[in-house]
Amino acid sequence: MEHIAIIMDGNGRWAESRGLTRSDGHKAGADNISRIADAAREFGIKYLTLYAFSTENWKRPPAEVAFLMKLVSEITEGRLPDMMKNNVRLRTIGRTEDLPLPARKSLLKCIKETENNTGLTINIALSYGGRAEIVDAVNKIISEKGPGAKIDEKEFAKYLYAPDIPDPDLLIRTSGELRLSNFMLWELSYSEIYVTETHWPDFDKAEFQKALDSFGKRKRRFGGVVSETK
Ligand code: FPP
Repeated sequence: MEHIAIIMDGNGRWAESRGLTRSDGHKAGADNISRIADAAREFGIKYLTLYAFSTENWKRPPAEVAFLMKLVSEITEGRLPDMMKNNVRLRTIGRTEDLPLPARKSLLKCIKETENNTGLTINIALSYGGRAEIVDAVNKIISEKGPGAKIDEKEFAKYLYAPDIPDPDLLIRTSGELRLSNFMLWELSYSEIYVTETHWPDFDKAEFQKALDSFGKRKRRFGGVVSETK
């Protein structure tokens, strides 16, 4: 088990059920990222990919988008000392060039400063869409190789946003929806899926452990014959 991807859903519903604002929900969701990252380090996970903002999320009300972008800057700047202390590396996937300048600057600084850290890699998906990633890869291939080139799956995967990161072993989705929502369409082909009703701000270490226990019982076949999970 090297790589876990998480769709951090339900901040809004978590807030609503407590009579709080959606922003309060996002704040609580953002705070939960460090708790889950600590648990991931304890569990010995190498890569944690978090779906923070999709290509479709730009359609949300401007004030909510602005709040989320401010959170991106706050978390990346605020958590940098902890990331250094804990040997955590930050990366991103997505069309991050679409983010407002302050968010981009904070991210770049954090990515640069943590690039030699060798512990957990936190990979944040921002302005990310699975279809956009595939289209971006196709365009890169055409511009590099010319329109007549023939490629195979292995070669194609080299043009994705993070070609060196192995595909997720497990996808966790909080808050109960049974869909992929345009997340890592290529990379999740053979990942195990775990969905919990728990909203993201309440998804804690014990819930995380439950997801890992469930994964441990799966038999992964990758289209072939049975192999035990590890
Ligand atoms: C889903 O809740 C969550 C998001 C849209 C974004 C996830 C964001 C965070 C965890 C906090 C911010 C962190 C960063 C790095 C931006 P929702 O609003 O879709 O909840 P709902 O479905 O209940 O309305």
